[in-house]
Amino acid sequence: MELIKVKNPAEGAQKAFDIYQAALASGVKVLGLATGSTPIALYEKLTESTLDFSNVTSINLDEYLGLSGDNEQSYHYFMNQYLFNKKPFKKSYLPNGISDNHEAAAVQYDKIISENPIDLQLLGIGRNGHIGFNEPGTSFESTTHIVDLTQSTIDANARFFDKSSDVPTQAISMGIASVMSAKKILLMAYGIDKADVIAATVNGPVTEKVPASVLQNHDNVTIIIDEAAATKL
Ligand code: F6R
Repeated sequence: MELIKVKNPAEGAQKAFDIYQAALASGVKVLGLATGSTPIALYEKLTESTLDFSNVTSINLDEYLGLSGDNEQSYHYFMNQYLFNKKPFKKSYLPNGISDNHEAAAVQYDKIISENPIDLQLLGIGRNGHIGFNEPGTSFESTTHIVDLTQSTIDANARFFDKSSDVPTQAISMGIASVMSAKKILLMAYGIDKADVIAATVNGPVTEKVPASVLQNHDNVTIIIDEAAATKL
């Protein structure tokens, strides 16, 4: 694991931008993308840049079940708002949260991932160690699957909704094995709330209790953290 410590999230976004610029220059074709608050500053830098994504395919980590793409809380809406409306990609995939058959949608998503191997996967991290919506206890062998969100994740994401009871309780997420299949992984984490889980991810045992700890088993991981998130290392 390569750890890049930065003073603040703005510097983190610049470091991440540099990684994307180099990746595009080296000809990457498939980017795995994430939502949440952490990547927003990076997406702003990407959209303000002259980088061209018209030959790049994107594959997002996850989507809430029951929210259609025009729902402002959906991850489809988020990605359009922060990235795709301003920077068109060749093709952008997100898991389907409103399928009639969620199991079939998960199988279909794994097919998309296997046909478009991910060159660079972007990750945020939950305070409980989740990556994507892979909550503690998720098998390291998991592929795309339906998830019951934990109360900790529902509480953390309630800030994006009018009220906590509006937060969906299920999601469809790329699995841990799907994430680990990416050639390179970039995880970003900011703030004191992430300090414990960053310490567990980097220095703790590799355990399904801390899904992100699996990243110790990947040979090309970069973690960008600010000073607050680094305090327990
Ligand atoms: C988002 C995702 C989640 C977030 C994580 C951190 O697509 O898969 O794992 O990355 O919940 O969220 P923020 O960045 O809001 O702290």
